[in-house]
Amino acid sequence: MSLTLITGGTVVSSTGSSLQDVLIDGETIAAVIAPGAALLGSVAADTIIDATGKYVIPGGVDAHTHMEMPFGGTEASDTFETGTRAAAWGGTTTIIDFAVQTFGQRVQDVLALWHEKAGGNCAIDYAFHQIIGDVDDESLKAMDELIGEGITSFKLFMAYPGVFLSSDGQIVRAMQTAAGNGGVIMMHAENGSAIDVLVQQAIERGDTDPIFHGRTRPWQTEQEATHRAIMLADMTGAPLYVVHVSAKQALARIAEARNTGQNVFAETCPQYLYLSLEENLGAPGFEGAKWVCSTPLRSRDEGHQDELWKYIRTGDITNISTDHCPFCMKGQKEMGIGNFSKIPNGMGTVEHRMDLLYQGVVDGRISLEKWVEVCCTAPARMFGLYGRKGVIAAGADADVVIYDPNGHTSIGMGEGRTNHMNIDYSAWEGYEIDGHVDVVVSRGKVIVDSSGYVGAKGDGRFVKRGLSQNLL
Ligand code: URP
Ligand code: ZN
Ligand code: ZN
Repeated sequence: MSLTLITGGTVVSSTGSSLQDVLIDGETIAAVIAPGAALLGSVAADTIIDATGKYVIPGGVDAHTHMEMPFGGTEASDTFETGTRAAAWGGTTTIIDFAVQTFGQRVQDVLALWHEKAGGNCAIDYAFHQIIGDVDDESLKAMDELIGEGITSFKLFMAYPGVFLSSDGQIVRAMQTAAGNGGVIMMHAENGSAIDVLVQQAIERGDTDPIFHGRTRPWQTEQEATHRAIMLADMTGAPLYVVHVSAKQALARIAEARNTGQNVFAETCPQYLYLSLEENLGAPGFEGAKWVCSTPLRSRDEGHQDELWKYIRTGDITNISTDHCPFCMKGQKEMGIGNFSKIPNGMGTVEHRMDLLYQGVVDGRISLEKWVEVCCTAPARMFGLYGRKGVIAAGADADVVIYDPNGHTSIGMGEGRTNHMNIDYSAWEGYEIDGHVDVVVSRGKVIVDSSGYVGAKGDGRFVKRGLSQNLL
């Protein structure tokens, strides 16, 4: 086995930071040791990486991506190959993607299809959640079976009637199953029937521009669904993880439930921390389509963003994921010209999550350790990967990022800017980050260095997950 020594850097964990060296043996971290100790003890490292003046952090874990996801008559534009490569560029070394079951499909069949799509194509390690879009006896049985296959979380939708939406009765049945088998219920919490009425009325009025995507999904529809999901989870005893939370009112409800001791967790995404309904969805002409996603970007005037950052600090937002689901403007987003409800929902961020959240450290929003917690450690713990992923410690997979706080990253499609996602625009055009992903190590192999991406298609492997480590 080859030995790699990362020396001179500051190892940052979710609980503290200190000058330490990291010794990697093959695919695994062998030791975290005092600076210089390996060199003094004459450890014959095959490779020495100088991290002087830089942070050494666990590889990022993005627990919410949709590569090649079918949506609204098209498919997310990043394949597992292109999307995981972009993730690697940005310091993410594990994704958890969603296998998608819709009405009438067998869960096991779609899962096999997702294994086929991802297998041999990924730049970094990957795991799956399972979307259950058709809760019935067969899919409930499949939920039990999937636990043993390393798929221990199940996403349900309270939105998209006729496509993904589960009735309250179906939600209760799925939650009862998860309460019995140790799985986590992930919830897309928006009141889809109410939204559909508002959408129909807007289109009839001639309010067809992208901004009406946001205006027809007001915060009340998110808070109401979040409250309902919390109550159903309380009733059934299922752990609940609310995905892509954007409304401060929904978060207040989640925080309240957490204060009672209920197993409720919240995820938000960089877009809800930085972007807004007015500036982005409301961009001139059809430009706003770039930022159509659900839950929607919220009004800056309503003050959601400061509250979201606050809930990250309080720990009520446990994870930052991207909900990476990119669609090109040409041929995809433009399907919604003249009718915002036909714009495929989603945007591309998988490459920029670590940077965008690091900017939160620079801006004094969160601590360095919180950055590592919400981007690396907590997602691993939430979804049964901790120990292997999300931590720099002996025995863990050697997924390590060297981050330069004196470096700089200009995001976007323009000259001197960075975007490696398979998309014809950047939702983050013009964002400047006071830091830079210098080196990315995935299971002991350097896949990004100063020369760029040096990994290969198929480096990433499927990771079987255990049960959530956030539960008793
Ligand atoms: O707009 C979004 N979020 N697209 C991806 C699908 C989902 O609901 O997560
Ligand atoms: Zn969703
Ligand atoms: Zn999603």
